[in-house]
Amino acid sequence: SNSAFLNWTHARHGRISGTDPASLTPRLGEAANLLGLELAAGRLPFIDMPYADGMTARLQELEPLLRRFEHMVVLGIGGSALGARALQKAFFPAQDRPAHTGPWLWIADNVDADSLEAWLQSLPAEKTVVVVISKSGGTIETIGQYFLIRDWLRTARGDAWTNHVIAVTDERSGFLREEADTHGLASMPVPDHLGGRYSVLSAVGLIPAAFTGMDWQALVRGAKTVGAPLCSSPDAATLGAHPAWHLAAWNHALMQAGYSQLIFFSYMPLWAHFGFWFAQLWAESLGKEGKGSMPLPAVGVTDQHSTQQMFLDGPRDKACLFLTCSSLPQGRTFPGDMPPKWDFLRGRRFGDLLEAEALGTRMALHKTGTPLVEIGMAQPSEEQAGRLMALLEITTLLTGWLLDINPLDQPAVELGKRLANARLGAPGYDTETADLGAFLAA
Ligand code: PA5
Repeated sequence: SNSAFLNWTHARHGRISGTDPASLTPRLGEAANLLGLELAAGRLPFIDMPYADGMTARLQELEPLLRRFEHMVVLGIGGSALGARALQKAFFPAQDRPAHTGPWLWIADNVDADSLEAWLQSLPAEKTVVVVISKSGGTIETIGQYFLIRDWLRTARGDAWTNHVIAVTDERSGFLREEADTHGLASMPVPDHLGGRYSVLSAVGLIPAAFTGMDWQALVRGAKTVGAPLCSSPDAATLGAHPAWHLAAWNHALMQAGYSQLIFFSYMPLWAHFGFWFAQLWAESLGKEGKGSMPLPAVGVTDQHSTQQMFLDGPRDKACLFLTCSSLPQGRTFPGDMPPKWDFLRGRRFGDLLEAEALGTRMALHKTGTPLVEIGMAQPSEEQAGRLMALLEITTLLTGWLLDINPLDQPAVELGKRLANARLGAPGYDTETADLGAFLAA
């Protein structure tokens, strides 16, 4: 049933038309071996964690606490925020609409003095819970925001400030763990070996999800349908039949053939932010040693009037993952009093427009030679979202293995962070401080 939601009809197209899907068979055995070893060693928690009983139980325990508040502010960046934002936009659109009366979820995933100030000026501290999320517990953007919010909470709530903070961080180490222990803050762990961009189905993404009232347990159930077969039998037969392996092999073939960009085109308007979540997952995992492909998040129909021109007639270096749903709400029916020129719309539903535009775009991409896999969601539900996220995470892992890089680290992004720390005068960055001096003097 996992493969039922992928449509491969137009996948082997353009320069990979003749590719033999079985050509990666020798690497299948190797990948299955590695998968078995890594799962057994507990190094792939994003595959088996979503249905670890402990996590679900701890989150259920936390739910009554969450219900005491009207506002949640999430402090986190990168993988500590993008999953929550994708879920918020898809399943909690009420907050962006007229007449919404709460709850309110605010995600502070940038160094944005304007927004932070607005929150600190207007949020009612007594009704606000702050979830500070950092796997390492030491990311300067997140911890910087935390110090300002902690100060605000202390001023407003005195000693009771500690009842307004939940820390999501490493179980044993890092500044945030020390902070949680020192002040007795509520906390949930980010399991060992769980990197930020693979963590949406842990407390990192699920606490904000639970706060908005979405069905977070269905997210977990959906993820389980994708990951569980690999956990129970990580062998070549199971992996070879798994859609994540097929997608990884397809992407590997694309990269070999010079397709350096991967469009993530969502024709589920509310799911547009899954594109940003996926972009981080794909780019930060695979952009190594000159390898990988650049993810390009796009949303239909908006980007048909924008980047689509480049997709269709720019450099022939793009493939596409095309997200659709066969059961989106169809909206209102066009009335009968339209001018003759528009009469063809009479009796049709607003949703027919989206369906027609999606078909038009998919066919246009095909006609211009773009290899494309359609991911068809049966419903716009939490369960389907969990399946999609687990599928894309496992696909990213396997693609990294096929590229012979480590998809779980991110060494290159560290340099910019070290230089920023040096600029601020943090101790222990002497080399970077000297480098910065030379750069600025040039
Ligand atoms: O995916 C990743 O590993 C990164 O994007 C991290 O999520 C991001 O750098 C934040 O790290 P941390 O959770 O340690 O604060």
